[in-house]
Amino acid sequence: MAPQMAELFVALLHHPVLDRRERVIASAITSLDIHDLARSALTYGVRTAYVVHPVPEQRAFASTVIDHWITGQGRVLDARRQRALRLIEVVADLDEAIDDATLRAGARPLLVLTSARTNEGLAYDVLRQRIEGEGAPVMLLFGTGFGLAPALAQRADVVLSALRGPTDYNHLSVRAASAIILDRLRGR
Ligand SMILES: C[S@@+](CC[C@H](N)C(=O)[O-])C[C@H]1O[C@@H](n2cnc3c(N)ncnc32)[C@H](O)[C@@H]1O
Repeated sequence: MAPQMAELFVALLHHPVLDRRERVIASAITSLDIHDLARSALTYGVRTAYVVHPVPEQRAFASTVIDHWITGQGRVLDARRQRALRLIEVVADLDEAIDDATLRAGARPLLVLTSARTNEGLAYDVLRQRIEGEGAPVMLLFGTGFGLAPALAQRADVVLSALRGPTDYNHLSVRAASAIILDRLRGR
């Protein structure tokens, strides 16, 4: 990774997110999200990927998935997966992620919200230039369920443009959306 780049963090939030009726809920953590986010994070030079959940049992589940590959049986099966999963930190809320990223990077990260519903947002090339220009660290916020709750849009410093294909279908998984966005911001 080029040394002049701003530090990049990602956070996968399971609360506050919306359900299909637009109620604020906490969604369940899935092991597939953890694995794929970790792999994308390592590929694109993300410093730390936070899995955020307010419920201790859900955080314990996430830690079990990660520990299996780092210290458990999975360790001997696939060292590459272990390397990626070491980038994951499981935290209770966004503030904990921000505090941890601030300690690691030495400055508070710019909070960048991602959403499929943004009509006008920051262009990818503008954020990319900012990252390449040794600016403040950046934390990308990704949702689960039916997307991040409006309260998070108020907390975010910036809202990123929605990814759009040539069709009207607008239901990317968070795994696909995060990989595409990381490639736009950091891909060679
Ligand atoms: C709404 S959740 C869907 C979670 C779902 N359960 C799944 O299968 O992954 C998807 C998240 O990925 C990101 N995302 C999805 N589509 C997007 C788009 N078109 N543009 C930008 N971000 C998008 C947002 O962070 C969004 O909150």
